[in-house]
Amino acid sequence: MVYKSNSSDETINIGEKFGRGIAGNCAILLYGEMGAGKTHFVKGLARGLNISAHVTSPTFAIVNEYENKLFHFDLFRITSFDDLYAIGFFDYIDRGIIVCEWSENIPGFESEFENYYKISLIKKGENEREIHVNSGA
Ligand SMILES: Nc1ncnc2c1ncn2[C@@H]1O[C@H](COP(=O)(O)OP(=O)(O)OP(=O)(O)O)[C@@H](O)[C@H]1O
Ligand SMILES: [Mg+2]
Repeated sequence: MVYKSNSSDETINIGEKFGRGIAGNCAILLYGEMGAGKTHFVKGLARGLNISAHVTSPTFAIVNEYENKLFHFDLFRITSFDDLYAIGFFDYIDRGIIVCEWSENIPGFESEFENYYKISLIKKGENEREIHVNSGA
C-alpha cells in the first residue's frame, strides 16, 4: 500500500489510521532518511493506539515507552546486532508494539520478528512524501 502525504499533519493522520488497524503485538520497522517524517508518523501511530502522551524523537534516549503499550526506538546510533543486545532491545519483543526509526541500520532486521510491518517514508519534495506500507509475517 502506498500513501501520499503533502504535509506533516497528513503524515500524522496516515500514522493514526495505521495504528487503529493494528491488532496485537508487532514490530513496525521504519525506513527513511533524516527528515522523512518517521517521528511524525509515530505521533499519529500513538494517537491511533489511544495514547495521549506527546511523542518526541527518542534519538538521545534510544527508547521511549508509552503506557507500557508502545516502545519507540531510534536506532540512528545502533549499527549491529551486538548493539541491539547491549541496549536490551530483544527484551521488548512481546511486551507491546515496537516501532523503530532507522531500521536500515540493521540488515535483515525483519527476520527477528513474527509479526512486522516495513514502512518506508520517501521524500518527494519539501512537503511531499510517499509512505509505503508492507506487512510481513
Ligand atoms: N509530508 C510531510 N510529512 C512529514 N513531515 C513533513 C512533511 N512535510 C514536511 N515535513 C517536515 O519534515 C520534518 C520531518 O521530521 P521528523 O522528525 O518526523 O523526521 P524523521 O524522519 O523522524 O527524522 P530523523 O531521522 O531526524 O529522526 C519536519 O520538520 C516536518 O515538519
Ligand atoms: Mg525521527
